[in-house]
Amino acid sequence: MPITPTEKIWMNGEMVDWADANIHILTHSLHYGMGVFEGMRAYETADGPAIFRLTDHITRMHDSARILLMPMPYSVEELVEASKAVVRASGLPACYVRPIAYFGYGEMGLNTLPCSVDVAIACWPWGAYLGDDAATKGVRMKISSWVRHDHNTMPPASKTTGNYANSSLAKVEALKAGYDEALMLNSQGLVSECTGENIFVARKGVIVTPPLSAGALEGITQHSVMTIARDFGFECRIGELTRSDLYICDEMFVCGTAAEVSAVNEVDDRPIACPGPMTTAIADEYKKAVRGQVDRYKEWVEHVS
Ligand SMILES: Cc1ncc(COP(=O)(O)O)c(C=O)c1O
Repeated sequence: MPITPTEKIWMNGEMVDWADANIHILTHSLHYGMGVFEGMRAYETADGPAIFRLTDHITRMHDSARILLMPMPYSVEELVEASKAVVRASGLPACYVRPIAYFGYGEMGLNTLPCSVDVAIACWPWGAYLGDDAATKGVRMKISSWVRHDHNTMPPASKTTGNYANSSLAKVEALKAGYDEALMLNSQGLVSECTGENIFVARKGVIVTPPLSAGALEGITQHSVMTIARDFGFECRIGELTRSDLYICDEMFVCGTAAEVSAVNEVDDRPIACPGPMTTAIADEYKKAVRGQVDRYKEWVEHVS
């Protein structure tokens, strides 16, 4: 998806013009994939732009860095304020926000311990990741031939840049085969997640989403969706899913900050009723929640000014 430039990018404590936010070609993380990042969305609300679950995202970024033994030079509070400042500087009512921390220029070789850590935060307008009508029309999924990396290869709990080589291989494979998105199984053959979304499967009124132990990221949207589903009175739990569970489910959706709540209409050419009634109810409530229109979820909505 093409990027639309905005005014400023926050780099190591300074607001830098978009065109000047550059790094050296020998930046360590560019070569070895040891960066951590977040994807957040600012939504237009009645009280101006607000970043949905900003503090939770920045906290997860700190956790990702802990897993990589990357010392973060800025606190959660500092990065929360910097994220708000970037969105304010853009003047946009709504946008996607991308903080990234990476080992910087100055050292080469796989030992990250002597490396400096740089942090940047950018924002730009970004539409629905899986298409504007993904919540209603649904997306076609393919189970990937690529296996999700596991806890002893690349820890899935860390949103590490290098982890996304695995996701990109699966995404491109699915797109080239004519599908919209890939579903990934782990090395035990259990359902893990999609390339950039968590998955929810409903059967006989029970909604299930795979755990972190299956190789899924602990999604912030996943948590929001579980909360919304339970508040509706739906039975919703974390649990194991097999490939067959996908083929015989009653409804299915995927969710993430970029994709929001997107229905699934097919897995491996097996049709799924779409959008199912629970999917529709959850997707509609999520859309309202992120815009600060649901009182019980207002604490998730963090205004930028
Ligand atoms: C691999 C992967 N799984 C799941 C998600 C969904 O996470 P979240 O809802 O926190 O955006 C993402 C997005 O960050 C992701 O990259």
